[in-house]
Amino acid sequence: MSDKFQEAFAKTRIAGSVASGALDELSKFIEPGISTNKIDNLCYEFINDNGAFSAPLFYRGFPKTCCTSANHIVCHGIPSDKILREGDIINVDVTAFKDGWHGDTSRMFYVGEVSVRAKKLVETTYEAMMKGIEVLTLNSHLGNIGEAIQNYVEKKGFSVVRDFCGHGIGEVFHKEPNVLHYGIKDVGKKLEVGMIFTIEPMINEGVYETKVLNDGWTAVTKDKKLSAQFEHTIGITNDGYEIFTASKKGLNFPPYK
Ligand code: MF3
Ligand code: CO
Ligand code: CO
Repeated sequence: MSDKFQEAFAKTRIAGSVASGALDELSKFIEPGISTNKIDNLCYEFINDNGAFSAPLFYRGFPKTCCTSANHIVCHGIPSDKILREGDIINVDVTAFKDGWHGDTSRMFYVGEVSVRAKKLVETTYEAMMKGIEVLTLNSHLGNIGEAIQNYVEKKGFSVVRDFCGHGIGEVFHKEPNVLHYGIKDVGKKLEVGMIFTIEPMINEGVYETKVLNDGWTAVTKDKKLSAQFEHTIGITNDGYEIFTASKKGLNFPPYK
């Protein structure tokens, strides 16, 4: 790989490890009774202590450090004084900006014991993200990612959100290409060495349609059924891919303790 790509990868690795480290840290605290503002504060402290900044904070007017999306919230939930209760499922999405580069990752958390149905949705969503990652290979097409995810998810009886997608990332938070989580094999842009982008499928229990609430951010499922999401930032290498936001503690999907 060229020096330019080596440097991009080295810096994304660092930003990515701050973001994934924040999620590792949160797993100690997420339990019934915690507010999403408390999650946001913990996230802020961790990112700050690690010499990084939160990319979402003040991004297009977003008011908080991370996104907290519980139950029927698909993505971009805004931390508030809302208290999490036993049985809730919640996605926390963290993007660290360090030394000019971004690392973007999210995971689901269980709040106490959750329903069998919720577990099935969360496990399917994690596996779907991994299916999308495992097909990554030089010169394959972006459509292969979407095809792998959609095929897996629909077989399980769940649906793939169309209104939000993964994205190129680097010195800029969101850039081309759009990475769709549904699609057709061998269609779309070809994967090239050095490309860095996210894969972040949002999977719904019911219909895939979403709507955005009046706060201009919070996206929810149209049918108020559950939604789940996981996200990694990855880079394309000569022999496949590198995940920049893997948990260093093996905290890949819940339960974490
Ligand atoms: N981290 C989200 C993503 O995966 C984007 C959050 S932007 C915000 O792309 F403004 F909503 F925080
Ligand atoms: Co993202
Ligand atoms: Co994100």
